[in-house]
Amino acid sequence: MIKIVIGSEKGGVGKTTTCAALAAGLVKRGYKVLSIDMDGQCNFTATAGLLVGDKIKYTVDDIIDNPEEDDILKCAIDTSFGDFIPGSKNMIGEAADKRHPEFGTFNFLKTQLSKHENEYDFCIIDTPPYFGLSLISSLVAGDYIIIPAMTSVFSLQGMNDITKHIEQAKTQNENLKVLGILLTQYRNTSFAKDAIYAYEEIAKNKKIKFFNTTIRQAVDIERAHSVCASIYDYAPKSNVASDYKDFVDEVLNALKKPLNKNKK
Ligand SMILES: Nc1ncnc2c1ncn2[C@@H]1O[C@H](COP(=O)(O)OP(=O)(O)OP(=O)(O)O)[C@@H](O)[C@H]1O
Ligand SMILES: [Mg+2]
Repeated sequence: MIKIVIGSEKGGVGKTTTCAALAAGLVKRGYKVLSIDMDGQCNFTATAGLLVGDKIKYTVDDIIDNPEEDDILKCAIDTSFGDFIPGSKNMIGEAADKRHPEFGTFNFLKTQLSKHENEYDFCIIDTPPYFGLSLISSLVAGDYIIIPAMTSVFSLQGMNDITKHIEQAKTQNENLKVLGILLTQYRNTSFAKDAIYAYEEIAKNKKIKFFNTTIRQAVDIERAHSVCASIYDYAPKSNVASDYKDFVDEVLNALKKPLNKNKK
């Protein structure tokens, strides 16, 4: 199982949208995917349609609080975004950060996932826009991180925080690598070109891949979220669905995996 964390401490840069598009894209390519919502905002859980009705019996809370009894396989719900561990509002704030006995080692997610290495091809983890229990535990558990970013000054400035914290997390997880920076919500403005140049420089200096694919801004994304559908199902012919397909191709190529699991 390859564990990919989608993370950035900058809010609203497209983490959840990218999680949804990557998870659904990998499922469509025949891969077995586990999706985990580590963000107390529960946007990924909502996008997967799990906040409607009473579909949720277990959340990420259960695998934290009763790690022996409440296993990932028991808690996961089958969705078009893979087997899904829903998020929990209890993951927000200081109380959440202090609740776990393994606080300080941040190992609970890694321990849980290690039990299921052979059951999934990929695990996609959504994280909140701040450095706390959820993000640190995800970085400790992950093999790769993808950093979504936008062509705004504040998003550019946010790169310093996440790259600094990735280096810190590497002291507890030497396997963690940056898979790349992904530009999202792209609009062709004069500043966008400057921003791309700045990201290319950051990527070069930090020896990080900058994805060739850029995700364009499109209202179809918001609409797809509102009906809890993946962008490929909601607007299969849209530019943004095509962008995300190219991105999934790039991820699979970078990981040296076939573009379709069953076609080597
Ligand atoms: N390519 C896109 N085109 C148009 N809107 C987009 C696109 N990508 C994301 N959005 C919208 O931008 C907003 C922020 O995206 P998203 O929730 O994925 O970011 P986030 O990084 O997960 O935010 P947070 O830090 O709050 O978790 C959402 O309303 C989403 O629907
Ligand atoms: Mg989010």
